[in-house]
Amino acid sequence: MTGVGPPEALAFRHLMARWPTGVAVVTAREAGRDHGLTVNALLSLTLAPPTILVSLSVDADTTPIVERSGRFAASFLSAAQRPISERFARTLPSAEKFRDLALDRSPGGLALLPGAVGRLECRVREVRPGGDHRIVLGEVEWIDLPPDGTPLVFHRSGYAAEDGPDRLRLPPPRSA
Ligand SMILES: Cc1cc2nc3c(=O)[nH]c(=O)nc-3n(C[C@H](O)[C@H](O)[C@H](O)COP(=O)(O)O)c2cc1C
Repeated sequence: MTGVGPPEALAFRHLMARWPTGVAVVTAREAGRDHGLTVNALLSLTLAPPTILVSLSVDADTTPIVERSGRFAASFLSAAQRPISERFARTLPSAEKFRDLALDRSPGGLALLPGAVGRLECRVREVRPGGDHRIVLGEVEWIDLPPDGTPLVFHRSGYAAEDGPDRLRLPPPRSA
């Protein structure tokens, strides 16, 4: 797909597919139950105070839990955690998503995934309406920085594959 023009929905998707991102699982907790979803709309917003932005679909079950509880955690997935990304991107009851998964806990008791390349916990500072998403600003209150690993990368609507200990092979370009 080539050319310039108004951002027709499909062209917009194709354009954004050219923007590689990491992949994280965002978790929240309410009434003793964990909830979580896969996200790639996550970015570092400010350093002072340390703040991240996550964009959560209004249709995602986890979104109102984040809003009501006022806290969330994020585990930045490693290349080996593609099955985790796929699991948390499915529409499943939350208990199914977490079934048989080993978990760590943040200081606030939120679910964290062992083996992630980085983990953090946030207090929700602000939630802004954003069309079909909620724009959630989270002030980072705790971080876990394990020894560096190879991140999971999402690009061209697919996952990059591990190609050696510190190398990734990107999905092939689209023919369209
Ligand atoms: C690679 C990838 C990235 C995604 N990024 C987001 C995102 O940034 N925000 C979002 O709301 N959903 C995102 N999704 C979709 C959610 O993971 C999916 O809708 C999930 O089923 C929502 O779960 P829930 O309804 O249990 O909360 C992404 C899915 C994939 C596969």
